Amino acid sequence: MDFLNYQNGRLLADKIPISELASQYGTPLYVYSAPYIIKQFHAYEQALANRKHLVCYAVKANSNLSVLSLLAKLGAGFDIVSQGELERALKAGADPKKIVFSGVAKTTIEIERALAVGIKCFNVESEAELYRINAIAERIGKIAAISLRINPDVDAKTHPYISTGLRENKFGISYQLAEEVYYKAQSLANIKIRGIDCHIGSQLTELSPFLDATDRILVLLDKLKSNNINIEHIDLGGGLGVCYNDEQPPSPSSLVKQLLSKLDNYPNIEILFEPGRSLVANAGLLITKVEYTKHQDDNHFAIVDAGMNDLIRPALYKAWMRVLPEKEPQVTDETYSYNVVGPICESSDVLAFQRELSVKQDDLLVICSAGAYGFSMASNYNSHPRPAEVMLIDDKEHQIIRKRETMDDLWQGEIVL
Ligand code: LLP
Repeated sequence: MDFLNYQNGRLLADKIPISELASQYGTPLYVYSAPYIIKQFHAYEQALANRKHLVCYAVKANSNLSVLSLLAKLGAGFDIVSQGELERALKAGADPKKIVFSGVAKTTIEIERALAVGIKCFNVESEAELYRINAIAERIGKIAAISLRINPDVDAKTHPYISTGLRENKFGISYQLAEEVYYKAQSLANIKIRGIDCHIGSQLTELSPFLDATDRILVLLDKLKSNNINIEHIDLGGGLGVCYNDEQPPSPSSLVKQLLSKLDNYPNIEILFEPGRSLVANAGLLITKVEYTKHQDDNHFAIVDAGMNDLIRPALYKAWMRVLPEKEPQVTDETYSYNVVGPICESSDVLAFQRELSVKQDDLLVICSAGAYGFSMASNYNSHPRPAEVMLIDDKEHQIIRKRETMDDLWQGEIVL
């Protein structure tokens, strides 16, 4: 996270003191750097500059309206998986013609709404979904543009919970069946075939699974072409990993360049990507305050005010996320190997295991790389209001982009019998 630095012993984000953000907005607090998101988006755009392309940001990674509107203004498209994400994208100013709709369980209402606003494409995940889309399109007098999400059966070599491109995963249409399903799609009056789609998993740190999936897609594309089905776009999904600890994933530009080199013989095919994490993860951090320290037996706990309700990745995937103290560590500090734990009544409520830290009550800690799948997976478990979110506009200006939830927000919509 190159926008985080110590200066005179204190941690700054884009030159703004973390302590200033914490005292102005309170903790726990999510903070995102707009310049970082812009830089990452431009990396994709520049690598794709000589191709017809569309970078569709995966809204699920971070769906704050300000994040979406920032990307919409840069010309991004959006990959959505629910009507909620569709409405968010539209509210943030997205062009519906740049929206692709993924997800395995699209409901009738969601499909109707997507057809009504005129999205670019449905990424169809099953034969049954194809028939449902066709029937709805027929009923409301529309033609639905589709691609089939192919499950290419490649090993993404990532955490099993976020691997999606293996035969046993629920996602996509099996590679063996895909050709047949395209022929069925072609016979449907209210379906227009536009593309082939795949997404094989998330936090991929190697190129080879992307390259293998692309090869399989091109074999399918050629077969379809020889049977008079013309594919206009290939959607290679998201999934590019980021550095949380010492991973060395390819950069967006090297990923894109390597994939494009396979596509030289297909110059007219539009290329879509659906990146989420690689655009926003390392743009974000979570500031939390140490409420207590507790030392007993051989265990040292830094008990902080953010928990698995605010940031579930460590509890759910045993994800390692960097923890930086707001005060720069000094060699003379007395340190302990701390488990950084939250307020939630679950033993899995651990944000970080065994980190050598010197902390005391009321100190601030920063959880790094929290811009993706942080707030968007947050909940009110144990009736904690969800944190505020702040955007760093540049190295002086910051702005609140979501107010901290209040106690009243906790029971909004509830009815006392
Ligand atoms: N497209 C589709 C169809 C997806 O399912 C996903 C992510 C993406 C694109 C974006 O993938 P990305 O570029 O962000 O890797 N909560 C997990 C990650 C779940 C990813 C789900 N799908 C985590 O915190 O690691």
